[in-house]
Amino acid sequence: MMMGEKIPTRQEALELLHQYNESDSLRKHAYAVEGVMRYIARKRGEDEEKWGIVGLIHDLDYEKFPDQHCTKTGEILREKGWPEEYIRAAISHGWGICSDVMPQTDLEKFLYATDELTGLVVTTALIRPSKSVLDVQVKSVKNKWKDKRFAAGVDRSVIEKGAAMLQIGLDELVEDTIRGMQEVAELIGLKGNPA
Ligand SMILES: [Fe+2]
Ligand SMILES: [Fe+2]
Repeated sequence: MMMGEKIPTRQEALELLHQYNESDSLRKHAYAVEGVMRYIARKRGEDEEKWGIVGLIHDLDYEKFPDQHCTKTGEILREKGWPEEYIRAAISHGWGICSDVMPQTDLEKFLYATDELTGLVVTTALIRPSKSVLDVQVKSVKNKWKDKRFAAGVDRSVIEKGAAMLQIGLDELVEDTIRGMQEVAELIGLKGNPA
């Protein structure tokens, strides 16, 4: 922590998210990534609050400043006095795409590895008859891995790069991402229709 930095609360992060993201789908993406980051932090004995908050705000600038994605988030959070650790982590999710900040900490690597993966899990849930993330299994996600037309916007190579950085298997990463999203199924609109 540097002087003048103040640890943000989840409530502050949530208010910022709502202020900058009016789109329902962007908000749901933020909640999904938050859920995953919380799940993984808890599992690994890390700071769940911190990991969750970074997940929540990682795409803060995307709706209003798509051409300055990552950069604007840094400006907004610095102006609010957010700790540099949180800001760096948020920006590093766009490594090689909209930022040159390479993920270094476990928090950063997991954010990088799971951000795109949440999109793949959403699409996998939506093709289930139940439209529920509660029914998604690792193998259903893995089955669609090489199908380039399925969730075409999801860059699998980013997820693979993230898993390699973390030195964890893709199955474990997919499993943890599904579990984290299941915890927030209602919030992300993927609780589905009960059979
Ligand atoms: Fe992003
Ligand atoms: Fe994202």
